[in-house]
Amino acid sequence: MSTTDYTLLNRQLEALLDTRDWLTNSAQTCAFIQQTLEALNWVGFYLQREPQLLCLGPFQGKPACHPIPFSKGVCGAAAREQATQRVDDVHAVADHIACDADSRSELVVPIVHDGFVWGVLDIDSPQHARFSQEDQAGIEALVATFVRQTDLPRFV
Ligand code: SME
Repeated sequence: MSTTDYTLLNRQLEALLDTRDWLTNSAQTCAFIQQTLEALNWVGFYLQREPQLLCLGPFQGKPACHPIPFSKGVCGAAAREQATQRVDDVHAVADHIACDADSRSELVVPIVHDGFVWGVLDIDSPQHARFSQEDQAGIEALVATFVRQTDLPRFV
């Protein structure tokens, strides 16, 4: 996997997000990531629209699982622990929720605003161990740009 220039991608995303609207910006962000990073099969947002429940939001990829409680799956763990989950082999995680059988590795970044879990950004790859620590840091920086440039409404 070639090294990704996340500094450049972050500047491009900053320019792309020229509204403060959560729906527009979340749709643009997952489309941007899907188009610019290699070897991904699913990129999307899950939003806490009911207490402790992640509801499917804008995404790129196959139709996906909905809803996901905070108590389940890799997405639930990211929301519950408010910590990024980087999984090299999803088959090795008993709690993994398989939406797309092609997925082999996964990165889930929580979106926390004012101490509240607004949602998560979930990224899946058909490649084993697709996401390095550098990818994690780069994608967390992209999520930070999304949060900084978006008005995030409280749904619950
Ligand atoms: N694999 C996730 C579910 C979401 S799909 O990958 C789109 C999980 O275990 O939480």
